[in-house]
Amino acid sequence: MYLIVTSSPNSDGLTAACGKSACKGVAEAGGAAELIDISAAKLAPCRVCGNGWGTCRETAKCVINDVLSDLQNKLRESEGAILVTPVYFGQPSERMKYFLDRFRRCEAFNKDGSAARGKQIDLVAAAGGSGNGTATCLAEMEQWCRHVGAIPQERIGVTRFNREAMLQVIQDAAARLALGEYFKGF
Ligand SMILES: Cc1cc2nc3c(=O)[nH]c(=O)nc-3n(C[C@H](O)[C@H](O)[C@H](O)COP(=O)(O)O)c2cc1C
Repeated sequence: MYLIVTSSPNSDGLTAACGKSACKGVAEAGGAAELIDISAAKLAPCRVCGNGWGTCRETAKCVINDVLSDLQNKLRESEGAILVTPVYFGQPSERMKYFLDRFRRCEAFNKDGSAARGKQIDLVAAAGGSGNGTATCLAEMEQWCRHVGAIPQERIGVTRFNREAMLQVIQDAAARLALGEYFKGF
């Protein structure tokens, strides 16, 4: 199963279209895709417990009871993932950041190994304004991959100017991920 995470409140916006293309690509390659829109899910920001390091560093679990633990389990079970965020102020959306921040705190020091360790992940930034900040948004998500032991594969910037072309790029990238094409060259 390939986990596709989207994080925009617009159900028919650019981010949603990117998520759909990712699903199409996985299906085209014969894989199973599960899409979770974390904008619609119960997901809180990090509480920054204790002196800055909460119990999550030891337990790999967040004290907040919401969708995060499901996402940890699903990513661990998955064969890979595609993260799709709208670009807000040159960064991932607040919702995506809630997920990235709390997942990283739980998994970066997980004694059983990070739930994202060795997972191939495509990163997609949907910038519906000027397109400025697409690169910084992707850079932030790429750094997250390093912290949680994931392998960033494609870093895809989508703007309203290149929308149609890039939706196809996302579909093709998702298919490559599901076909395991990235490791064939090794
Ligand atoms: C708070 C906020 C900040 C934004 N910042 C940027 C930005 O830095 N660069 C950009 O190209 N678009 C920016 N936009 C436009 C969004 O990227 C655009 O609305 C995008 O299409 C959102 O995806 P959606 O259609 O899936 O909602 C911003 C939008 C909002 C609401």
